[in-house]
Amino acid sequence: MCGIVGYIGHRDTRDVVVSGLAKLEYRGYDSAGIALLSKNQIEVVKSVGRLANLEQKLMTEDIDGEIGIGHTRWATHGRPSDDNAHPHQDCSGRFALVHNGIVENYLSLREELIEKGHQFKSETDTEVVVHLVEELYNGDLFSTMVQVGKHIHGAYALVVMAKDNPEEIIAMRKASPLIVGLGEGENFVASDIPAILEYTRRVLILDDGEMAVVRREGVDSFTLDGNPITKDVLEVHWDAVAAERGGYEHFMLKEIHEQPKAIRDTLRGRLETDLKRVALPELQLGAQFVQEMDRIHIVACGTSWHAGLVGKAVLEQLVRIPVEVDVASEYRYRNPVDTENTLVIVISQSGETADTLAALRDAKARGRKVMAITNVVGSSVDREADDVIITQAGPEIAVASTKAYTTQLVSLYLLAIYFAQERDTVQQSVVQDLLQELDALPQVAEQVLDSAPQIEAFAKQYSDAHDTFFIGRGLDFSVALEGALKLKEISYIHAEAYAAGELKHGTLALITKGVPVIGIATQPHLYEKTLSNIQEVKARDAFILGLTWVGNEDLQKTADEVIYLPKIHTLLAPIATVIPLQLLAYYAAVARDNDVDKPRNLAKSVTVE
Ligand code: F6R
Repeated sequence: MCGIVGYIGHRDTRDVVVSGLAKLEYRGYDSAGIALLSKNQIEVVKSVGRLANLEQKLMTEDIDGEIGIGHTRWATHGRPSDDNAHPHQDCSGRFALVHNGIVENYLSLREELIEKGHQFKSETDTEVVVHLVEELYNGDLFSTMVQVGKHIHGAYALVVMAKDNPEEIIAMRKASPLIVGLGEGENFVASDIPAILEYTRRVLILDDGEMAVVRREGVDSFTLDGNPITKDVLEVHWDAVAAERGGYEHFMLKEIHEQPKAIRDTLRGRLETDLKRVALPELQLGAQFVQEMDRIHIVACGTSWHAGLVGKAVLEQLVRIPVEVDVASEYRYRNPVDTENTLVIVISQSGETADTLAALRDAKARGRKVMAITNVVGSSVDREADDVIITQAGPEIAVASTKAYTTQLVSLYLLAIYFAQERDTVQQSVVQDLLQELDALPQVAEQVLDSAPQIEAFAKQYSDAHDTFFIGRGLDFSVALEGALKLKEISYIHAEAYAAGELKHGTLALITKGVPVIGIATQPHLYEKTLSNIQEVKARDAFILGLTWVGNEDLQKTADEVIYLPKIHTLLAPIATVIPLQLLAYYAAVARDNDVDKPRNLAKSVTVE
């Protein structure tokens, strides 16, 4: 998730582009850059780090432009660096281009272009696109871009300009957002509305598979094949702050709703097109290690640790290998029993959590192979691990982790299926079933989000509760832990998660009349048992919110309310189950008037022990 801005008009182009980028920094902030076109010359200035670094650099640069494009980056391919920052240029410096998304076939395109003599300066997938523009250029930028679109696979929002064409910017979109702002004698392009709200409230939202030619005096819209289309103008009524959050009241709610896209982005390019195998070309573990690996240790903190618990169950089930999961602050000091064939997997959204990083360093010092699952390219964990899987959640701003968790789960599913296929531990038909269901997860997440009003009503009713209990068995217990953590951290309601069968060994004493209990029952082989545990708490007059699959109508006889989830593969259930629990925590915190995005005493990244 990166931020893009483009401008053509009568204002100070540099100011418009930089101030637009400032409004988009929530989309990415590991590096930034701008390209300005003036007197048939394109000048590019880029800087690693936050936008302030670019602004600092620009103070000493005497550059201006008639048109300009800019980018604030959240790395997906290639670490944050000046070279990898956008805009990118072709060999001759004739074109400048910014991109948000992932070009899936960039490796093969890069090889072809290198063979044709193109010289690359960065490690990004984006740079292939600008060399492709140079390669295919026919004197007309618009028709060239139509051709470019036919060669690239994946997701993109692209904005490009050419030095011999100071009259237009081309914008095109496939699966990454892009809008056009309409002014008088000026027009804008941006990833998102906040970037342009200072100048105009009239907007064209480009839909998937559309492109626009943006000139000073007007904008023409087309399909990616170059056929003209007519688009409606949208009048935006949000204020600037609400626009940054995409119209949502809080970043957390926005991020909960971004999960279908985040899941889709994390799966992108990793399911082979016939849905028969997982492809993780980034892994360098080596075939021999994958075969000889004799145990896995997963190490993480907080929500990432909860993702690890799901990972354990899935890896053990599919790969039949022993997996241990540790909280990083414990792992560091417990002198774990492992072997030279142990794989240590650290999971960290930020990639900077002090305990997780220390655990990674300890494991490496003992000579273990370490794999990281992280959301931040260029973070310490990314740089220091031997192997990395990047979750494609985009920046997570709210302190309470939501989309990072679901994309960590998706990464663990992919990894488990990858190991299973390489070690031949499950039948091909099982792999295919799982891949089909993985592919459908974004739609499942969309459907689950529809339960928001029901959960909001429940959360309002119970927002003055002192204690809450989350119960479940197997994978449902792992999700219960995450649901309880979410509720605690933002609503400040005491919440405990219990393995449902363990309740009667003590905790049942706390269940009294009206105490809210969230009973999760999605695991078919454990359903009857969980149901009887839910009946146990009902017998103590608890108020029960049940979560189960559509079709398990009998839960309704015991639970006071039931959220019915679309039926999916048992192993994938946590993705569907966690979303209502995130919403429950969110609405309870809102009802209590808490600072949802910045809960008390908590920080987004815990960089001290
Ligand atoms: C909870 C939450 C924290 C983090 C934990 C680890 O919502 O966000 O529990 O999961 O601090 O952070 P990362 O994943 O950045 O290592």
